[in-house]
Amino acid sequence: MFSNSSDNRTVRIDLFQAPPLPRYYVDRPEYTDNLKANLLTNSSDTRAIVVTAIHGLGAVGKSTLATALAYDEEVQSRFADGILWVTLGQEPNILPMLSGWVQALGDYNFKPTSLEATANHLRTLLYDKSVLLVVDDAWSPDHARIFNLGGPRCQVLVTTREKAIADILEAETYSLDVMTLSQSMQLLTQRLECEITGEDAKQAEALVKELGYLPLALELAAAQVADGMSWGVLLEDIQGEIVELKTLDREGAEDVTDEGSLKRLSLTASLNLSIKQLPQETRDNFIWLGILPEDVNITQEMTAVLWELDEQDATDKLAYLRSKALLLDGVVLADDKPTYRLHDLFHDLARYLLTAPIDEGNLSGLGIGLTEAHGIFLEKYRRC
Ligand SMILES: Nc1ncnc2c1ncn2[C@@H]1O[C@H](COP(=O)(O)OP(=O)(O)OP(=O)(O)O)[C@@H](O)[C@H]1O
Ligand SMILES: [Mg+2]
Repeated sequence: MFSNSSDNRTVRIDLFQAPPLPRYYVDRPEYTDNLKANLLTNSSDTRAIVVTAIHGLGAVGKSTLATALAYDEEVQSRFADGILWVTLGQEPNILPMLSGWVQALGDYNFKPTSLEATANHLRTLLYDKSVLLVVDDAWSPDHARIFNLGGPRCQVLVTTREKAIADILEAETYSLDVMTLSQSMQLLTQRLECEITGEDAKQAEALVKELGYLPLALELAAAQVADGMSWGVLLEDIQGEIVELKTLDREGAEDVTDEGSLKRLSLTASLNLSIKQLPQETRDNFIWLGILPEDVNITQEMTAVLWELDEQDATDKLAYLRSKALLLDGVVLADDKPTYRLHDLFHDLARYLLTAPIDEGNLSGLGIGLTEAHGIFLEKYRRC
């Protein structure tokens, strides 16, 4: 049985790079049990490193599943020398990622001159260790392959939207589907901290279906209900937003029929709705997050500059966006200040809205070119 639970987030190993587990984590044993068994197996073949892949569409919960496995007690015992984590994304800057791992393994003197030399050095450092290497969000087999390092006691866990990548890596692949109805309802209940009963439960179930059982869309919806919106109104709004998106070209949505595209449409609809309901200034703040690189840890200092606010106001704004489920929790820093992350799909939308025309389509952008936006950001940075 998978031993993780929402109150079991203990890290028992010194080297641990996985992100925090979502606050309202719902166990998905139909995947984690097998995945974990696979990770705990010791390979009889000492020449090739075992690669396991979690594959599935955007926002279905791949990275979260990998995170949950990293927090599992037995997984941490099996990989007692550490769990390394890298999030690649579409255009990864690979050398700093590799040298980050070198340093995490305690070597601060190595000069990373080339990818090959750094990868070889890592191979030596990892040779006699038991380390789990998590390669999150791989978009290219070539990128992922560089991280297939490590000795016979190491393993690689890849997450990817592309099944072809898992195949090329010859990985044992687990295809992750959306949540079940009961997992979806559990996520809503945990987020709202109360049972959903009677007519509410019926409408919530209808909403879950409309949102394609996607955990990220469900979190956005729960945040709206926590804010006082009724299930019925939210359901109508989401349905209206989906119809509106289908009449627009942006998602290529007008003749969407396949399952994956319908799910993406549901997520876009719920994200659009959450963003439209933000006060104008906060919406602009959210959109400006699109200028940051993907997968950075967002701090109050950073956003104080970006949003031209004092640190306390920036802290409050970040907490507000987190309460709307528009930001995820980031790593906790030594000074205990909270940090945040932007889901890659939200980052894509923020970046899109930065450049999208003002007052056009169903969600207005800021109409700023990316180069111009970078210039404005640099100017703000200089002034502070
Ligand atoms: N099992 C779960 N329990 C609770 N929340 C979850 C769960 N899985 C996913 N979520 C929520 O949904 C969000 C999106 O999930 P996740 O980032 O894991 O998706 P993904 O499949 O890795 O997406 P992408 O392909 O864009 O990288 C998470 O940040 C979390 O808030
Ligand atoms: Mg992911």
